[in-house]
Amino acid sequence: MPTRKIEVRLGPNSYNINIGSDILGQTGKMLQASGLSNKAVIVTNPTVRKLYSARVQASLSASGIKELTLEVPDGEQYKSLESAGKLYQQLAESGAERSTMILALGGGVIGDLAGFVAATYMRGIPLVQLPTTLLAQCDSSIGGKTAVNHGNLKNEIGAFYQPKMTITDISVLQTLPQAELTGGLAEVIKYAVIWDEPFFTYLETHLEEIEALNGDVLETIVARSAHVKAEIVSCDEKDMGLRNILNFGHTVGHAVESVSNFQVTHGQAVSIGMVAAAKIAVALDIMPAIHSTRLIKILEKIGLNTTLPPAEVKDIMQKMRFDKKVTHGKIRLVLPRSIGQVFITDDVDPGVVEKVLGEMK
Ligand SMILES: NC(=O)c1ccc[n+]([C@@H]2O[C@H](COP(=O)([O-])OP(=O)(O)OC[C@H]3O[C@@H](n4cnc5c(N)ncnc54)[C@H](O)[C@@H]3O)[C@@H](O)[C@H]2O)c1
Ligand SMILES: [Zn+2]
Repeated sequence: MPTRKIEVRLGPNSYNINIGSDILGQTGKMLQASGLSNKAVIVTNPTVRKLYSARVQASLSASGIKELTLEVPDGEQYKSLESAGKLYQQLAESGAERSTMILALGGGVIGDLAGFVAATYMRGIPLVQLPTTLLAQCDSSIGGKTAVNHGNLKNEIGAFYQPKMTITDISVLQTLPQAELTGGLAEVIKYAVIWDEPFFTYLETHLEEIEALNGDVLETIVARSAHVKAEIVSCDEKDMGLRNILNFGHTVGHAVESVSNFQVTHGQAVSIGMVAAAKIAVALDIMPAIHSTRLIKILEKIGLNTTLPPAEVKDIMQKMRFDKKVTHGKIRLVLPRSIGQVFITDDVDPGVVEKVLGEMK
């Protein structure tokens, strides 16, 4: 059974994140205990299906919950309206009704897509998240943002739609490819910097255990990250203010990702973006340099990138100028005051940003 429960407080949309080891096999029982005992449709991809769907299916049948599994190919390119269309059709053909629930078993791609389908099929059917990557467990499965990509629109077609429950099984992280784990850790570091200095210290002192995939330590970092995100989302469900601080590292990060044609992964780009934000804060005398040194040190130890090829600075600046985060020639950034505290500013001189990026060799 789950060892930790985190409540996401959203009035009538409140729900629990259940965290523990080897708890996928308890899915049926947990659903039943929450009054969710109708037919379930598991949405997953072939990679995750091979590893984990059998234990979810077995636990559903043991609880007398009828189940059907639908597969979407593995990859960000399948987070599309086309995949959503196929899923709607398969749901309809299988006789899915308003009370049928969707279980999203996979990483952020499956969570976003299955969440979007749950939000829109018959104007909304119950959704349960079963996140299987570190990023999904700490980030994408929390907060109710569901989305697909369409043409050049990345994550811009979607809906806010909260799950009924999230079941976060830490043991699935044992099979995660190293690069996915490292990328997810960039977001974990982000939570510590924006909100929780003691958590940052915990990360600094437990890097070896994280690398060794120690279950207790992984559980602690997922739970603390989920707690930070849940707190922030509870204050600002629809992303009108405070939730913007979750973009720490993402203004420069998105530009780096995009300039590299997505060859630089999201986590690596966010790492570079966090270093840039920290150095900008130091350059503006907002934060003492000891904090940025501390940040760079932990990112490097994890194997995250903290430097930029100088040739790319002009392109990155150009990308940010066309980004919605730029108004009247000023760039919107989330800047740290220290480890554990950030603020949002619309007023950073692009000259300072360019200078800092130029020095990040
Ligand atoms: N909704 C939100 O708030 C939010 C926030 C951040 C990111 N996102 C979205 O999340 C997506 C990225 O998610 P992701 O990083 O989880 O990528 P992903 O879903 O593509 O998963 C990464 C890879 O790991 C595999 N995998 C998943 N679980 C595994 C396991 N336990 N063992 C072995 N392999 C496993 C997947 O099949 C995939 O190949 C993006 O589309 C992004 O836009 C959404
Ligand atoms: Zn991110």
